[in-house]
Amino acid sequence: MRGFDCVSELARTYPTSGIRAMFDLAKDYPAAINTCNGEPNFETPEHIKESGMRAIAEGMTKYGSEAGLDAMREAVANKYNREFGGHRYELSDVMITVGGVEGILLCLLSVLNPGEEVIIPDPTYTCYLGQTLALGGVPVRVPLYEEHGFRLQPEDLERAITPKTKAVIISYPSNPLGAVLRAEDGERLARVIEKHNIVILSDEVYEKIVFDGRTHFSLAQIPRIRDKVLVVNSLSKTYAMTGWRIGYVVGTNAEIMRHMFKMQQAVVSCLPPFIMRAGADAIDGPQDCVEEMRRHYERRRDLLVDGLRAIPGMKCFKTEGSFCTFINIKDYGNAGFGSRRPSDVARRGAHKGLRYRAKLGGTHDAHRR
Ligand SMILES: Cc1ncc(COP(=O)(O)O)c(C=O)c1O
Repeated sequence: MRGFDCVSELARTYPTSGIRAMFDLAKDYPAAINTCNGEPNFETPEHIKESGMRAIAEGMTKYGSEAGLDAMREAVANKYNREFGGHRYELSDVMITVGGVEGILLCLLSVLNPGEEVIIPDPTYTCYLGQTLALGGVPVRVPLYEEHGFRLQPEDLERAITPKTKAVIISYPSNPLGAVLRAEDGERLARVIEKHNIVILSDEVYEKIVFDGRTHFSLAQIPRIRDKVLVVNSLSKTYAMTGWRIGYVVGTNAEIMRHMFKMQQAVVSCLPPFIMRAGADAIDGPQDCVEEMRRHYERRRDLLVDGLRAIPGMKCFKTEGSFCTFINIKDYGNAGFGSRRPSDVARRGAHKGLRYRAKLGGTHDAHRR
């Protein structure tokens, strides 16, 4: 269309995902091992698939309510009542979303005004940055350091907070770092958070994939800051349901949640009820499949981390949770390629697997996930 600028400034400048670029490119390299997406290689457990198919057969194929199917919201509320305690979670504390990605978007849509700042650790999962920019927010990157186990330090958080700060997005267990938050970190962070009018988006989609006997800790477990925390979670990783696109937000701030339900009208109206039926049965049903997958991931983590550490010059943070292994290849002189051109990296063809640094952040140029 000549003479007519039909593409928005946002679309033109939206940060492209290096992960997606590598994923597409991998199709052209049959010998490559594609480790681009955080994708379980397990099938969704049979009882969950059957629940979804049964729900379709029973006619759960119409529009549903914005906040989600009551059965699913109840399953989520009960899960948090079992696991968190200290607060009686109700349906009104739960919003069902199209995966964790839409959960993050709905949180931002509900709290962020254009020009307000969102603190985003660096490196991080890519979509936080794009979504913040899409809503006219200003991302403020806070580096995470290996000497602190890649856990956000309260003094770094405090330094980044300004009168314009509206939200902080944290992700533990972390993609791309594989780090896990400890209860003592939470306490130290809470001392900063309680002093400021800020909202914490806590992306916990890897909560069940933690290793070495650790347990997941959420900032929402600290009563005095609970109302400031929006927990974003998903069934994608826990139940190998990435393609079902189902997740949720849990928050005890009634004002935010009420508006979040409304904001779903602007995005997808509602989720498919049959997907939510299966989601409820995943959460309410047997959990041995979750532990079995977790054990597999832990074995693979051992294999990968031990194998990488055995290579001279290869340094590797011992993954504590999630699917990610974060490798320091500084001794290889950054391997002769920069972080921004994953396609070039793959085309070089000097390696069998796929590696990428993608646009996860700028602090760790000598690292690969
Ligand atoms: C940290 C993190 N959050 C959220 C997501 C989104 O997952 P989904 O939308 O499938 O729930 C991912 C996916 O890889 C992720 O790594």
